[in-house]
Amino acid sequence: MDSFIIRGPCRLEGKVKISGAKNAMLPLMAATILTGGRCVLDNVPDLRDTRTMMKVLEMLGIPAGLEDGVLSIDATEVTSFEAPYDLVRTMRASIYVLGPLLARFGRARVSMPGGCAWGPRPVDLHFKGMMALGAEMKIDHGYIDARADRRRGGEVILAVPSVGATVNILLAASLADGETVIENAAREPEISALAGALRCAGVEIEGDGTSTIRVQGRKSIEPFSHTVIPDRIEAGTYAAAARITGGDGTIENCRPAHMHAVIDKLEACGAEVSVTENTMRIVGTGKISSVDIETGYYPSFPTDMQAQMMAVLCIADGASAIVEHVYPDRFTHVPELRRFGARVTLDGSVAVVSGVPRLEGAPVMATDIRASSALLLAGLVADGETKVLRIYHIERGYEDIENKFRALGAEIERVAG
Ligand code: UD1
Repeated sequence: MDSFIIRGPCRLEGKVKISGAKNAMLPLMAATILTGGRCVLDNVPDLRDTRTMMKVLEMLGIPAGLEDGVLSIDATEVTSFEAPYDLVRTMRASIYVLGPLLARFGRARVSMPGGCAWGPRPVDLHFKGMMALGAEMKIDHGYIDARADRRRGGEVILAVPSVGATVNILLAASLADGETVIENAAREPEISALAGALRCAGVEIEGDGTSTIRVQGRKSIEPFSHTVIPDRIEAGTYAAAARITGGDGTIENCRPAHMHAVIDKLEACGAEVSVTENTMRIVGTGKISSVDIETGYYPSFPTDMQAQMMAVLCIADGASAIVEHVYPDRFTHVPELRRFGARVTLDGSVAVVSGVPRLEGAPVMATDIRASSALLLAGLVADGETKVLRIYHIERGYEDIENKFRALGAEIERVAG
């Protein structure tokens, strides 16, 4: 297993180009199953999760090839309806094949994802959504077994605006008979990106980006080509890196319009942020001010940026409170940040970060995608050497991260073991 060695402290300066969004690409890959044809996605990041989803599709008999950011997927024939445990346990979003398989073939068998590093992460809303669209659902030997003789539209009221459940319902509803209404739908830009692709493929969808989405199902769906939107979490991570290092970074190929909550908090902690439609410059001179953060559903502050902002606040002037509303247990980075000398206390879903003047390099362990990037950020400003172990977590969600950081002036290298 590879690790990163970082020698700090450093000040980042320069430009970085953001890749396509993992969380937009995965639903689009699943959507190709609906089409029964050859689809092309571009601006596709070459990530561990991209490769996992390609394997899931290949297990279904759907060949997929990625070259220079262009992903071709030929969903003409499907030879299996099963997403196996070995793949689903490494990437929960494999469950996105449930809705489209059920819609096109009336059957799907997908391993239950199980818990993850930061809590149980249920899939009950995916279940309820499929049932509202006419499916019979059961759990059988650790697998979700779904069948439907006739797929019909229906009304689904989500108890929480789950991104994953909204994706699965949107996908299944696109090939159902009649209208589906999703109430309390997720409003994330990645949902609008999926709706946009499905619209190009001929599906009538209204209300994406709001809490009520209406879908008029079709009998068949045209193969589509689509460009993946930029990754707002990757962009936010580099913005946080510019702030924590007191640097001056220009982030290219991003959509600041998707990042208001993150930009507000960066400004509140003393960064100067200037934006155009698709670039963002962060100048992070001066002391980092403490700032309180509460995560929430889009457009609130994203849980996927909580760990990175916590790293920034570890060296702020004063104390900051961070409240995690989406995943109350998502704090596996806290004990690791303490290894750098950070002062963080935890009480349930509330972390209090008392800023310290400097961090010290340390060996630390990556535990999930975003927790890992927080450790990299801490390593950039810590005195001396930091070794981040288990970086395969980072590779799930960040394309070419060490070269991007190196180009900004970081001393970072990949080592085996
Ligand atoms: C997606 C993102 C992930 C992000 C998360 C929250 C992808 C591939 N992953 O994950 O990066 O951290 O959104 O923004 O896009 N819930 C239920 N029942 C369900 C499903 C979810 O109670 O059936 C709850 C969860 O426990 C959580 C909340 O809903 O509290 C939001 O989860 P959800 O939006 O579903 O997260 P994911 O789609 O798994």
